[in-house]
Amino acid sequence: MVDAPDVSLDAMPHPAPDVDPADLGPLLGGLSAPLAAVSTRSGDVSNAQIAVAITAASIVPQRPRLIVQIYHTNFTHGLIAASGVLAINFLEWEQLPLIWQLGMHSGRDGNKLESVSHTTGATGSPLLEGCYGYLDCRVVNAMDGGDMTAFLVEAVAGRTNGGERMTWREARPRLPRRWADEWDRKIAGEIDVSLHTMDSIDPTPWPGRPVT
Ligand SMILES: Cc1cc2nc3c(=O)[nH]c(=O)nc-3n(C[C@H](O)[C@H](O)[C@H](O)COP(=O)(O)O)c2cc1C
Repeated sequence: MVDAPDVSLDAMPHPAPDVDPADLGPLLGGLSAPLAAVSTRSGDVSNAQIAVAITAASIVPQRPRLIVQIYHTNFTHGLIAASGVLAINFLEWEQLPLIWQLGMHSGRDGNKLESVSHTTGATGSPLLEGCYGYLDCRVVNAMDGGDMTAFLVEAVAGRTNGGERMTWREARPRLPRRWADEWDRKIAGEIDVSLHTMDSIDPTPWPGRPVT
């Protein structure tokens, strides 16, 4: 029996990684999934934010699971952590304005869903009308990443409505100048915050299905 290598982070030296962000940009950008609005409801508070860091995480067609990365600084993060539910609303091209409404403003500053037509899914999460499709999900596990949490979610319901779904790669060049400038400003601030928090990883396991 060969001893497992010690790959704990503590055992590794922690120098700055040998990477060039400009060189890796196209490689990492190509991993981005379609644009989605991640919505949730905790108590009587509903909210939605834009997310692209969404990956399929199940090979069993009848048990769809995904990993959804949500940043700690987002209002949505606390709501998902408290409720254990979220819906992934995959955006259709007609919904381009939602990038501005849901992705560049916070639900802490007002009810972002007030002007967005939606119904309520089985988990209580808002389902946005006009989407390419949606998955209504419950959280089955979560891993802290210091600056974000990777939520493993399982779909309890989902539909493809149709239309043409949008990716960030395609949408980015079509953003009005003001939105693109605002995005550049916002993401620069968020990278700065992440640089200070991404090593503060809380290893506490997800407590299981919370009462909603
Ligand atoms: C194109 C785009 C992609 C984004 N991707 C993510 C993501 O994958 N995960 C995340 O947590 N935030 C992502 N965001 C940022 C949130 O949508 C944004 O910070 C939002 O204002 C948070 O809203 P909240 O505070 O109401 O939760 C993205 C924003 C945009 C515009």
